[in-house]
Amino acid sequence: MQLAGATAIVTGASRGIGEAIALALAQRGCRVGLMGRDAEALAGVAARCRATGGQVLAVMADVTDPRRLKEAVDEVARWGGGLSLAVLNAGVGVHRPAVGGEEAARHALEVNFLGAVRTLTTAMPHLLAANQAAVVAVSSLSALIPYRGGGPYAASKAALVAYLRCLRLELAGSAVRVGWVCPGPVRTGMIVNGVPHAKLPRLARLLVPVLSPERVARSVVGLAEGGGGQRVLPFQAAAFAAFARIAPRLAERVELFTGAGEA
Ligand SMILES: NC(=O)c1ccc[n+]([C@@H]2O[C@H](COP(=O)([O-])OP(=O)(O)OC[C@H]3O[C@@H](n4cnc5c(N)ncnc54)[C@H](OP(=O)(O)O)[C@@H]3O)[C@@H](O)[C@H]2O)c1
Repeated sequence: MQLAGATAIVTGASRGIGEAIALALAQRGCRVGLMGRDAEALAGVAARCRATGGQVLAVMADVTDPRRLKEAVDEVARWGGGLSLAVLNAGVGVHRPAVGGEEAARHALEVNFLGAVRTLTTAMPHLLAANQAAVVAVSSLSALIPYRGGGPYAASKAALVAYLRCLRLELAGSAVRVGWVCPGPVRTGMIVNGVPHAKLPRLARLLVPVLSPERVARSVVGLAEGGGGQRVLPFQAAAFAAFARIAPRLAERVELFTGAGEA
């Protein structure tokens, strides 16, 4: 789809990867609805987008609140004269051991999976009314490669990928493209406060180097402009994910040996 002149909504736009995506879209001439729960942070992102000449509207909504979510999506569509891109980015980094992780899994699924499903369901009537449209989600490398402590988070991100793969088939032949990116660790508050990547052994850090939010944003833009599908970042992680699919037991040994399977 063509981004210039289109209207997009970005969930979790108040910081981190969502902020970088909002800026990248605004710089390409897209009108952007910035969604999040933190009004002050959203206002800051809006100001930074406007400083680059972007047109943005900040809307407050929690992706776990279906009524408010619908109001916010409809508000962006009214403001933008329609909606042709939904970026499902809002998420929480919940890490717990798999045993006893039920509450954490519920929380991760509620925000990372059901929050994304609610957003796309709410946005879909608008997207189907557009000439060209796209749904792009920010999943995670954890959906493809297991690691210790990743159960709740990885399950929510894998569920999202499985769901979008089905959606992609259902929308084949329509004007709506479906894509998702599976990034390894990204330098945002989520890993600074959540996954202690810096504590990993050097070999593990080489195997899965930390990405910038801007790198992920470029990939989201590429998926929206192109045919959708899956992108895994960085290329070392994409190669390791392919290896893990073909030889899962060997990949497990590499993870345990290098410490890349820690969180
Ligand atoms: N950082 C990484 O290493 C990494 C790697 C792979 C994938 N990801 C994924 O990338 C996405 C963005 O993460 P990030 O690294 O940028 O984390 P972040 O800096 O913690 O930002 C998370 C964003 O999600 C929003 N959010 C959280 N819960 C929400 C809710 N219930 N309703 C609405 N918005 C909510 C937050 O906004 P408010 O607090 O304002 O609501 C914030 O804008 C997430 O889906 C994450 O799982 C991150």
